[in-house]
Amino acid sequence: MGNIAIDGPAGAGKSTIAKMVAKELGFVYVDTGAMYRAMALYMINNNVSADDADKISATCQSADITIKYENNEQIVYLNGENVNGKIRTEEVGKMASASSVNGDVRKKLVELQQKLAKTTDVVMDGRDIGTVVLPDALLKVYLTASSRVRAERRYKELIAKGENCDIDVIEKDIIDRDYRDMHRENSPLMQADDAVLVDSSDMSIKEVADKIIELYKERA
Ligand code: DC
Repeated sequence: MGNIAIDGPAGAGKSTIAKMVAKELGFVYVDTGAMYRAMALYMINNNVSADDADKISATCQSADITIKYENNEQIVYLNGENVNGKIRTEEVGKMASASSVNGDVRKKLVELQQKLAKTTDVVMDGRDIGTVVLPDALLKVYLTASSRVRAERRYKELIAKGENCDIDVIEKDIIDRDYRDMHRENSPLMQADDAVLVDSSDMSIKEVADKIIELYKERA
C-alpha cells in the first residue's frame, strides 16, 4: 500500500476530508498543521517574538513534539503535555504562520512526519506534503476552492458560533494568507508536478472524499 498526501490552502477542507478518507481506508490521519501549532505554542510560552528568527531556531531545539493516537484522534504532546486543547486559538495560528517559515522548525517537524509515515499507511495533510515530506506518496492531491467559497464556509462557521463578521474582510484575510503561504522561501505551498488538482468549490465534502478514495483505489 502507500501514503496519501493532501496539500492546499487554508479553508479548502483538507482536514475534514483527510479524516474521512483515512477512516474509510483504515489509514492513520496525520494533521501536520497541529505540529506547527504546537511548536508555535512553545514559542509563545517562551516569550519568543514572531520576528526573531535566531531565537525561534534556538528555541525549537528544546521542543519535544510527539504524536499519539487515542480513540482514532491525533493527540499532540509538547514536552510531555497534551496540548490539543490549546492550539486552535487565533494567537497560536498567527504565531504558527510566522514560525513555520523557519528552516530549523521545518527540518525538525518534517523528520517527525516522515518517521510517522514509514511505520504505517497515512493520509497526511499540510502545505508541503507532496512536494517535500512524502515525495513518493502513492497519491498526491492538491485540494483547493475559490477564495470566495472558502470565505463563505468560514463565514457560516462564525455565524453559527454567534460571532459577528464581514465576509469581505474574511475573504481578504484568506487571500493574504494564501499569498504568504505561496511566496515564502521555505517550502512554499504549491501543487506537486504529479499531484491531482481537486477544486472543491462546487463539490460536497462527501463528493471530494469519494473522489480521493476512487483515485487511490485506481492506483493501489
Ligand atoms: O493548517 P493549519 O492552519 O493548522 O496550519 C497552521 C500553520 O502551519 C499555517 O500557517 C501553515 C503552517 N503549515 C506549514 O507551514 N506546513 C504544513 N505542512 C502544515 C502547516
